Amino acid sequence: MDRPVSGMLRLSIATAIWSLLACGSAWTEPAETSTSPPWLDSTVSPDIRADLVLARMTSDEELVLLKGYYGANVQMPWIKKAPPAIQPLLPGSAGFVPGIARLGIPALRETDAGVGIANTNWMRAGDTATAFPSGLSNAATWNPELVFQVGSAIGAEARDRAFNVVLDGALNLAREPRGGRTFEYAGEDPLLAGTIVGAQVRGIQSQHVLSTLKHFALNDQEIGRGVLSANIDDAGARESDLLAFEIAIEQGNPGAIMCAYNRVNSGYACENEFLLNRVLKHDWGFAGWVLSDWGAVHSSAAAANSGLDQESASGFDVQEYFGAPLHQAIADRTVSVERVHDMAHRILRSMFASGVMDYPATPRKPSAHVEIAERDSEEGIVLLKNAGGVLPLTKSVGSIAIIGAQADLGMLSGGGSSQVLPLGHNPDNELFVGGEVRVLASGARIMPLDREIFDPPSPLAAISRAVPHARVRFVDGADVAAAARLAARSDVAIVFAQQWMSEGNDVPSLALPGRQDALIDAVAAANPRTIVVLETGGPVLMPWLDKVSSVLEAWYAGNGGAQALTRILFGEVDPSGRLPISFPASEAQLPRPVLSDRSEAYHFFDVAYTEGSNVGYRWFAAQSLTPLFPFGFGLSYTTFDFRRFQVTGGENVSATIDVSNIGSREGSETVQLYAQLPAFGVARLIGWSKVRLSPGETRTVALAADPRLLARFDTDAGIWRIAHGDYAISVRTSATDIKASAVVPLSERTIKP
Ligand code: BGC
Repeated sequence: MDRPVSGMLRLSIATAIWSLLACGSAWTEPAETSTSPPWLDSTVSPDIRADLVLARMTSDEELVLLKGYYGANVQMPWIKKAPPAIQPLLPGSAGFVPGIARLGIPALRETDAGVGIANTNWMRAGDTATAFPSGLSNAATWNPELVFQVGSAIGAEARDRAFNVVLDGALNLAREPRGGRTFEYAGEDPLLAGTIVGAQVRGIQSQHVLSTLKHFALNDQEIGRGVLSANIDDAGARESDLLAFEIAIEQGNPGAIMCAYNRVNSGYACENEFLLNRVLKHDWGFAGWVLSDWGAVHSSAAAANSGLDQESASGFDVQEYFGAPLHQAIADRTVSVERVHDMAHRILRSMFASGVMDYPATPRKPSAHVEIAERDSEEGIVLLKNAGGVLPLTKSVGSIAIIGAQADLGMLSGGGSSQVLPLGHNPDNELFVGGEVRVLASGARIMPLDREIFDPPSPLAAISRAVPHARVRFVDGADVAAAARLAARSDVAIVFAQQWMSEGNDVPSLALPGRQDALIDAVAAANPRTIVVLETGGPVLMPWLDKVSSVLEAWYAGNGGAQALTRILFGEVDPSGRLPISFPASEAQLPRPVLSDRSEAYHFFDVAYTEGSNVGYRWFAAQSLTPLFPFGFGLSYTTFDFRRFQVTGGENVSATIDVSNIGSREGSETVQLYAQLPAFGVARLIGWSKVRLSPGETRTVALAADPRLLARFDTDAGIWRIAHGDYAISVRTSATDIKASAVVPLSERTIKP
């Protein structure tokens, strides 16, 4: 059962036994295929096409669809089984599920692609792809149309390499800002995260490449991700992490969902009846399939019956669960034949629905999308401070000191399975934090996991190009005194500071690592015109904030990052990013000030999400804490004014407000609508609109609420319930900066999930 079976084996003994056991169920032997199979008719619905092809499939063939392999065509030491042969020219990558050639069903070739095609970068050193900004940077754009284009570019680059499944968008709420995948995700708010990631998924699938949402659910920290139980009450989960998925599914219609490594309220996410059968498939009516994270399966019958449809990269699991053991479970009748049909049906209907069958991807010279990456970064970079109008810089500046964070190499990227080998990459742009490169007998290179990759071009090069007449000098910052001396001799100092994050490893604290705080202090003391550029996965602490003139959060900015940053520094574009995550003033402000102890993380342990749906800014508000920078915050080079706020209530909230650009430059504002529910003290984001205005321009901005944000989830009835009462509705430019407010009554109402 480990390999695709030939037609010769169709009448296997096992199949015959199942047919008998199934007693009249639809577990049938196939009839011969006709010359033009009806399931290839694209005018027929995906569900009917799936049924048509299923009727022709043998039981063994169905099982083939349910079990994946690690897709790389090299043997990794920790992989127990070799994958089936992969066609030459087709790159191996994260996952592979064999097709069924006799029925025209293609193999599924899966690649990670959260921030660009992460194509087997460990072994195929030559295959570079566009590195896009991090997921958190995408969310900082608050611009789903732009993120749709990013998704569509990623989909196109996947097709170029003949991948037909992209293991992205990534969507776990930032309950733990130190979480090693904070950079991959879309922040702390369910509406923003769900909308942004949904747009990315829609973009990917616009290229007839199937997209998965992950990691379902509550994979909100990396330490102990395979053993911890994320414990949370049902309503709290429905109003936060689960709502983010619900919105992303509605917006993006992904073909598949990846269940997570962790446990949720004790049960493993990949055999969690509540998450998979109840919430995802029943309540939300998800018609696609559930595939497991790599090594996240722990059972055969329990997983299949709880809603897992496909075991990914089976060699990663402690043992194989969906090959022979599933076969046995069907024979034992612990898994029904109907359930197996359902599993296969879900996979096939998504393949039809996404166009994977009708628009097969063939390898071709990979395309590049640096312009889209650059626009995405331009809108994601957040201006956090700008005292004395030091920014934007004028191009007549005489000298610039560029200091720190390998600003001569490129822009930092995040580590783990989403790591892209960026366009223009060369090995000199890598730093190994620990470990050595190992070369296997096959010639493949095994990289240590702690590998920092800098995406070219470097900010040093981009800034130097922008001001060819200025003296632009770089020091790496290792010698703090030398850096301060260079800063003192320059008109302006730009200090780059970095925090490297990687999947599998939460950052130990929110402090900038190493001596970077001391470096910034010393440079700021030497030159009052000090600009700090942060290249971080998420929020960091800034003990030097009062001493520097300006701070830009550039996140992990990708191949377009240096150019985007340069355009913002010199005012060619207005900084329009707004924080998708709160920046705490200290770790003591977090719901869990102390991170789980890595050394304890080899046994089951619990993480209690007692804050429920009060994630991020809602937590700060509920606890009356003042963050360093609030969710939604970001400065512009111009100034906006807000007038004539009008709100209507009744069934739902809608509002209008006049926004004027009263400054002298073009700029964009993100007008955020919040609601405070009766008897629920904390305001929630219920809608937003990003507007670009010329100097002097006024626009009436219309804002509509997602009604689920006005509701509480009634777990007994399984519905959203808007309570009758008065709702405080406000327009804000961050979670804490209120520009206009009004109280409107809403009538009682329920909404089905
Ligand atoms: C990650 C997934 C990824 C998979 C395949 C896992 O370790 O959690 O996000 O898609 O590997 O690379």
